[in-house]
Amino acid sequence: MVELKVSKPLLLTNIGQLLTLRGGAGPRRGRELAELSIVENAAVLCAKGKIIAAGKQKDVLKAAKKLKAKEFDCRGNVVLPGFVDSHTHLIFAAPRLVDFEKRIAGSDYEEIAAAGGGIRSSVDGVRKLSRSALAKRALVALQEMSSQGTTTVEAKSGYGLNTAAEIRSLEAIREAAKLWPGTVISTLLGAHVVPKELHSTPERYLEEVIGHMIPAVAKRKLAEFVDVFCDRGAFSLHQSEQVFEAARKHGLGVRAHVCQLTPSNLMPLAKYQPASFDHMDCFIEEDIPQLAKSETVATLLPGANYFLGLKAYPNARKLIDAGVAVALATDYNPGTSPTTNMAFVLSLACTQMKMSPAEVISAATINGAHALRLGERKGSIEAGKDADLALFDVQDYREIPYWFGSNHCEAVVMNGNLSLNPSWKKQ
Ligand code: NIG
Ligand code: FE
Repeated sequence: MVELKVSKPLLLTNIGQLLTLRGGAGPRRGRELAELSIVENAAVLCAKGKIIAAGKQKDVLKAAKKLKAKEFDCRGNVVLPGFVDSHTHLIFAAPRLVDFEKRIAGSDYEEIAAAGGGIRSSVDGVRKLSRSALAKRALVALQEMSSQGTTTVEAKSGYGLNTAAEIRSLEAIREAAKLWPGTVISTLLGAHVVPKELHSTPERYLEEVIGHMIPAVAKRKLAEFVDVFCDRGAFSLHQSEQVFEAARKHGLGVRAHVCQLTPSNLMPLAKYQPASFDHMDCFIEEDIPQLAKSETVATLLPGANYFLGLKAYPNARKLIDAGVAVALATDYNPGTSPTTNMAFVLSLACTQMKMSPAEVISAATINGAHALRLGERKGSIEAGKDADLALFDVQDYREIPYWFGSNHCEAVVMNGNLSLNPSWKKQ
């Protein structure tokens, strides 16, 4: 993408469909999820990284009159809030091609892990790489994400699995984030799995996470959130509670990988008011009414189901109809979901989870923002919010999940900065 340095206000004109997602406090639930508040023949005015005005072009032009804005003609295309990818494992060293082949030949995720593949097999690579080498890879992924319409990314560590390597991973995220115009929210996932060398003494690793990693990361302000993989083969519910307790003690927010492989009672973790419960492939039905009353977002990650070749997908309909706030994210990682493409994830959610095109847009924007506790700043196109926009070369927003596997994003605005894909023909 080519970043156009414009210090002047930016005026986007001739927008065929502007998906504002305006109005409403808190994440979208139930029927609200399909309300996109679309304005036709629209414009958006941005200055100093914020949206100044958005709506009918004639009204926005009036607001723009006194400002000497740089105009960008959107040629009748669709503009929506930039995607908020609220779950990514941004830091890793290499793809896991042996796992990929083994799975095709019939092994499942847990068999592969037991045979020396899986999460633990990504650790040596990360421990060997320098901070700047990790940051370089992360920046390439962030650029790939923004070229596909993503303007905010949650980025986890989790393949270092000792204090030094987890801290180096978070430093790499910070280094990459400084060079990318979008917004990055960092998460410590030290409690991903127990590393090989402590296999026989998992309590020692938990002690390292709780007693050293979390305090060090909080002290150096290297992450906003702490995540834990609470599932069979990773951490128990009780251990996950201990991780959340330590995070709370050190002033960090919490989120968790839950119910990916086995159903788990969520209430012991829910009392820590996590920003999100992620995966939710096999939740316990009794937990759902409580979850619907909470601010915790259920982040569904169908890219992982797709890549693992699973037949079952998270039951989005049940969650949405019960009033749970649902978000969609890529789960970008080398083992279960090597994709940066949010539009593809949206397509999967439509075809495999029976979410409507309107619902998937809300789940990938405003609800993703709430899953990162950024709902006040991001996820909709309204005056006062951050200027984070994506322009897709389509006439109707439903084409975004429809054209699966190709990239129709042509431009993004990230915190007020316009970047164009090479495919956008010169005006
Ligand atoms: O979200 N479930 C745990 N973590 C990742 C998988 C990571 C890996 O296999 O490397 C996930 O699917
Ligand atoms: Fe994940």
